[in-house]
Amino acid sequence: MRTDTPVSVKLENYTPYPFAIDNVSLDFSLEPEATRVRTRMQVRRLGPGEFVLDGVGLLLNSIKLNGDELSLEDYERDDETLRLRSVPDAFTFETEVVINPAANTALSGLYISGGRFCSQCEATGFRHITFWPDRPDVMSRFHVRMDADKARYPILLSNGTPGDSGDLPDGRHYAEWDDPHPKPSYLFALCAGDYDVWRDSFTTMNGDHVDLGVYVDKGQADRAQWAMESLKASMKWDEERFGRAYDLGVFNIVAVRDFNFGAMENKGLNIFNSAYVLANPESATDADFEAIESIVGHEYFHNWTGNRITCRDWFQLCLKEGLTVFRDQEFSSDLRSRPVQRIKDVMRLRGRQFAEDAGPLAHPVRPQSYGSIDNLYTATVYEKGAELIRALTVLIGDEAFNRGMQIYFDEFDGTASTIEDFYSCFEKASGRDLSQFRIWYAQAGTPEVTVDESWDEKKSTLTIKLTQKTPATPKQSEKKPVPIPLRAALLDGRGGHCTADGWENGETVIILDEAKKKVEVKLPEGAARPLLSINREFSAPVRIKRDLGTAQLLELASAETDPFNIWDNFQTLSKTEIFRLLDDPQSPPDAELVRAIADAVRHNESDPAFAALLTALPEIGELFQEREPVDPTGLNEARKRLRHALAETLMVDASRILSEPTPTPFAPNAEQAGIRALRTAMIGLTGALGTQDAARQLKSLFDQAANMTEKLACLRSLIPIESMERDEAIEAFYADWKDNPLVIDKWFAVQAGQGKAADAERLSQHPDFDLSNPNRVRSVAAAFAMTNLAEFHAPDGSGHKVIGDIIEEADKRNPALAARLLTSFEQWKKLEPVAKASAKATLERLRDGGLSKNAMDIVARALD
Ligand code: ARG
Ligand code: ZN
Repeated sequence: MRTDTPVSVKLENYTPYPFAIDNVSLDFSLEPEATRVRTRMQVRRLGPGEFVLDGVGLLLNSIKLNGDELSLEDYERDDETLRLRSVPDAFTFETEVVINPAANTALSGLYISGGRFCSQCEATGFRHITFWPDRPDVMSRFHVRMDADKARYPILLSNGTPGDSGDLPDGRHYAEWDDPHPKPSYLFALCAGDYDVWRDSFTTMNGDHVDLGVYVDKGQADRAQWAMESLKASMKWDEERFGRAYDLGVFNIVAVRDFNFGAMENKGLNIFNSAYVLANPESATDADFEAIESIVGHEYFHNWTGNRITCRDWFQLCLKEGLTVFRDQEFSSDLRSRPVQRIKDVMRLRGRQFAEDAGPLAHPVRPQSYGSIDNLYTATVYEKGAELIRALTVLIGDEAFNRGMQIYFDEFDGTASTIEDFYSCFEKASGRDLSQFRIWYAQAGTPEVTVDESWDEKKSTLTIKLTQKTPATPKQSEKKPVPIPLRAALLDGRGGHCTADGWENGETVIILDEAKKKVEVKLPEGAARPLLSINREFSAPVRIKRDLGTAQLLELASAETDPFNIWDNFQTLSKTEIFRLLDDPQSPPDAELVRAIADAVRHNESDPAFAALLTALPEIGELFQEREPVDPTGLNEARKRLRHALAETLMVDASRILSEPTPTPFAPNAEQAGIRALRTAMIGLTGALGTQDAARQLKSLFDQAANMTEKLACLRSLIPIESMERDEAIEAFYADWKDNPLVIDKWFAVQAGQGKAADAERLSQHPDFDLSNPNRVRSVAAAFAMTNLAEFHAPDGSGHKVIGDIIEEADKRNPALAARLLTSFEQWKKLEPVAKASAKATLERLRDGGLSKNAMDIVARALD
């Protein structure tokens, strides 16, 4: 039963649902092991076809059509559907089913977390709750009633606004909720239990009052404050930036400990992984505060991009996700530092999405087919999807983009839409044909852009030759050129720009929309040769190839006026240097480069968040992509040597920076976070020295650390240095925080992320390791397999084995979680032969042992 061969769903097979269900009433009688669900829907025929509903694992008690109980010959049922061959043109349809939330370990549908009921319906959880056409283009008005034991479940929540409530016999009570906005089933939510609530309110730009609540575990209300501040900031930002106001009198967020993803945008009732809600100055890092702000924003922004306008089918997932990620990135840029945000977003894109795009799991932002919908929630759909919106803004300009968004909100409000619908709005707004731009959505792989310049002294002309090429990806060997908007500038080498025809302030956007393009830039007579700055702000999600040597890149870095490109030039330089060190293990790191990085760090100390990013060398995951076969151990050694040299050069600065006091009282704002980021970077460099002396220093910083950001950084840096100090810090941290699961997740993650396979193995045997909690599983398995690549891909296969074992166990209860962890194998074909054989053997062992449909989908594609 457990090994299903995934059957693929195809975009070209889309057909509209032949019925409309204008209204639905759901009635829940909540009991953990036997919840009774009564569903009553008003159905109206739209076209010819059978009446087919999805339903999985439901115990069917009763089924009625226009009030009459149906008998077995009136319908057909299999494991996944309920089918009525003939029905009238308008009718009432009722079912009563029983489900077992307590046994729901997959965390899709209605389940129990921490003794409370909660739900997750995207993409296909609703079919585990009741019979329903569980597809995003069937939109209904939901009325919900629920009853439950009042002492155990005093708070009963669903979408929309509350209606009647009251007491019932036998210690039970009930509540009703009404959502006036038609919505697809994936946005349904229900929560019931005992919570503490942090309450506030918001008045919209239309003067409407909104009650806000963040529901958390008992005793944790004060840890909900930051999420609440972030929610209010999001509501305000969407009004100011996009003219979008909230549309109900209530907006609630519920935090749950057991959750497969980050959070979910259910209408009026967002459900969050508690990791992205709970924070206070003692227990949360700056990264936590930042993530909460951006995820609260993301889910809130879905109210317009996702809920009011939803997707016609799951192929259009990027319509809501790419767009909403773009919106949350803009929100964070406006609240914090734009260049720093851009750099972090690109680091994430390159680390995860470029890797995905270059491996066996590569797929277009809007694919033509999928095996398992849960596996389509990828970096490509989210991050590349967001980059395409950003590239669109560069291509047509902010003004046309903003107008297009307003057309989209006006024309498609209340509908389930497609990428074509969305782009039609920007065609109207810009007056341009965007059909070539849409090729981006259909083509997998990261385009490579080659930039070649030559300078004609006599004619004062700079000739820029550009070519594009997208590498072949699985099942897609032929690629077409896409329009690539490249922001460019002519640098004068003195911190300014050169003027030239058509380059206002020395800047322009070059659109590379063919395989090759030649751009001639005429400068005033007698002008000196300008330096070319290209793909500024990372205006297009491509790899730039330029044949520049170290000296030229250093010159370019010092002439740059775009902070993103300053950082990126050092990334390119470091990457080249790490590969050189890999090929020549005897040679010392390039002192000139190390000095230049150190100088840039010092030079930017007044923008500490930016300076901190300059100390960060490219991650192994990124370096990985440019070598085949790749030796992760050697790569890691080469990277460590360069980092060691940088650490030695910056040690005096590190001591100075770390001897200054950390900002107090703690505030999670960008300014303070920037100062801590630089301090943390210095802690990291201290660790890179790897000496016993460094261990002592780090332990004393660890003991004094006044905030979690710095404490955790010390612990992380200590892990690789075998010492008494390290062991003491590991123990002390655990003793201090053993009652706070989110902090203990970090304790697991730093050890798995910095340790050996044996450490990951040991952690997976720890009494606090819990296979039923996705955060805890990820804190070991994802931290090890996705960030600690040299150890994960150790040639002796020890890393593959420990992760393979965890995945095998996790898959038995939670296929979505197991499938996600399996993606850590996606680069296996690039590995050197020994590690490659071990990865392959692990994947084959998993496949042959029997896997869930979700996990099988990944393994089959990875091995293909
Ligand atoms: N829509 C949610 C978000 O991005 C994520 C839902 C994830 N669901 C899934 N099946 N992977 O905000
Ligand atoms: Zn989303």
